[in-house]
Amino acid sequence: YHLTVLISGNGSNLQALIDACASSALPNTRITHVVSNRKAAFGLERAAKASIPTAYHNLVLYKKKHPQTPEGTLAARTEYDADLSKIILALDPRPDVIVCAGWMHIVTPAFLDPIAQAGIRVINLHPALPGEFAGAGAIERAWEAGNKGDIKRTGVMIHEVIAEVDAGDAIVTEEVELKEGETLDELEERMHKVEHGLIVEGTKRVLEGIKKG
Ligand code: GRF
Repeated sequence: YHLTVLISGNGSNLQALIDACASSALPNTRITHVVSNRKAAFGLERAAKASIPTAYHNLVLYKKKHPQTPEGTLAARTEYDADLSKIILALDPRPDVIVCAGWMHIVTPAFLDPIAQAGIRVINLHPALPGEFAGAGAIERAWEAGNKGDIKRTGVMIHEVIAEVDAGDAIVTEEVELKEGETLDELEERMHKVEHGLIVEGTKRVLEGIKKG
């Protein structure tokens, strides 16, 4: 199977997938391309070290072609997303699954529709449980809610990507108990470890579904 992984930052989840493909955790599976929306993403170095072709898809170039208005920004994002789908559909080999791993860009139907028509699944890692803390800074918001006593646990999920942020059907989730007096860094550390396991498990389940499909 072929995976294309979308990243924006450190790429620790990409690294978990790279390691899983190298071991038997993800059998017959290869990451054939990594695409980042951030030039400085350390994940690009991780991909290069693993001899995985990378691409940098730069939103700024699109924003420069449009007025700095809400309409202009929407037009830029639509063009950016449409081109992202074209880039991915032109890849050889084409991916069976696109894995958003620390990908900090809200995709729109301009990306999702052509990809879905091509029969390619898109999944995303989000460090929260279904319906909770959608969007950026989820771990910090859960930590704060825990400190206020509002919640006793948070979690991580891998979910299908739809046009609404972090809202597609969950593929796999894992709860993470919040600990009294724990620092945000300590929680982040524990959450990332869970992410690294779940990103492999979620990808595995989708690939198995494709095999049966
Ligand atoms: C994850 O919590 C992800 O949701 C967020 O950054 C963390 C890890 O990203 N965007 P990465 O895989 O290390 O880049």
